Amino acid sequence: MELTRKAMLSGLLAGAVAGCARSAPGLKIGFIVKNPEEPWFQDEWRFADMAARQNGFTVLKIGAMDGDRVLTAIDNLAAKNAAGFIICAPDTRLGPAIEQRARVNDLKVMSVDDRLVDARGRPIENIPHVGISAADIGALAGRMAVEEAVRRGWPLSETGILRVSFDGLETARERTSNGRDAAVAAGVPVGNVHDAPQRTTDTEGGFNAASPVLTRAAMLKRWIVLGMNDESVLGGVRAAEQLGLPAQDIIGIGIGGSGSAEAEFSKPALTGFYGSILLSPRRHGFDTSLAMYRWVTEGVRPAPVTFTEGLPMERSNWRTLLAAQKA
Ligand code: GLA
Repeated sequence: MELTRKAMLSGLLAGAVAGCARSAPGLKIGFIVKNPEEPWFQDEWRFADMAARQNGFTVLKIGAMDGDRVLTAIDNLAAKNAAGFIICAPDTRLGPAIEQRARVNDLKVMSVDDRLVDARGRPIENIPHVGISAADIGALAGRMAVEEAVRRGWPLSETGILRVSFDGLETARERTSNGRDAAVAAGVPVGNVHDAPQRTTDTEGGFNAASPVLTRAAMLKRWIVLGMNDESVLGGVRAAEQLGLPAQDIIGIGIGGSGSAEAEFSKPALTGFYGSILLSPRRHGFDTSLAMYRWVTEGVRPAPVTFTEGLPMERSNWRTLLAAQKA
């Protein structure tokens, strides 16, 4: 099987060199994600499939929620003659194991969303990566929240910041700590910041983290909710609503802007989920798959690191922004 794959790939490369291989029938690329239920990852896969359709290859989509499943997935990709894979791993510390398994199986690898780290926690420079510009995007969320608080006439001295945190993941820590810092720089007292560490990065994880923290800080009646993604923020917002806070006293700003945010903005009445920072699943799904395809067929190595931007999104502009993204 190994020989077949090598023969096929060298055939492809030869074709590419001859300048005639835009389509590569039979070529397979893996796309492994840590949380296949999450709308963000569904969107990435959708765009990956689009790149595959346009260029004549196949994307093998695999959900892997823990380390064992990641390693099995990589072996399975090799058994299916895939040429390489893109991965958002359930734990970035799996980096060395993933790198090793890819090498043993002669598969090219690039990471998306969460950058893989080595045993000392440093990014593995050798694995090309596409992630969001986490610090800028987090700061944008923090500023957007305070701007809305000021518009509502909230006294910032009595405004709380709930930081739904997941600090073990670098991109998450950067997003929420820069969001917090931006909100503090804009006038919210640092003493009003409350961290709610989440165990999982979904809505339930956000809710479970936020509830006890909000209960303990009940003297604050108005809250800004920040988190690493829309689901975490939604969890925090739901916890605040459950404690009886009205939507007008909650400003949740998520990160992502796709499925979960869309569902929230579609509700007729304002909710505590005020806005989000729209990311580009096209760049993370389509562009990564195309980059892998070119790497495999033309020998063009992807850029070592790419950081993508985000756009502020709320009730007044979400339809326009999403329509532009889908066009
Ligand atoms: C991380 C998060 C996802 C999403 C992506 C975007 O992987 O867990 O929810 O925000 O980053 O890069």
